[in-house]
Amino acid sequence: MRAHLARKLRIGRAQVLITDGVFSMDGDIAPAGKTLRHRGKYNCIMMIDDAHSSGVLGKNGRGTVDHAGVHGRVHIQVGTLTKRLA
Ligand SMILES: Cc1ncc(COP(=O)(O)O)c(C=O)c1O
Repeated sequence: MRAHLARKLRIGRAQVLITDGVFSMDGDIAPAGKTLRHRGKYNCIMMIDDAHSSGVLGKNGRGTVDHAGVHGRVHIQVGTLTKRLA
């Protein structure tokens, strides 16, 4: 998967790198720190969908960015009010 991601970024097709914070099927947590290394290397925008992470991960449920300690390095963090917070 990591090689696939690197290949996509290298050939310049992917300009926005998007990942879930927590994947709903198995509850896997995205390796945000590792993924950010790709973002920096290929200079793309990074977005985390925290639909399943808001209210769950991080201090007081602040989400994946807080959980991974990568404040200020993720361009877009989105959540929803329909899951944990509901
Ligand atoms: C990862 C993810 N992002 C966003 C959404 C959309 O959430 P909502 O139903 O609150 O629009 C969902 C819904 O299941 C989701 O699983």
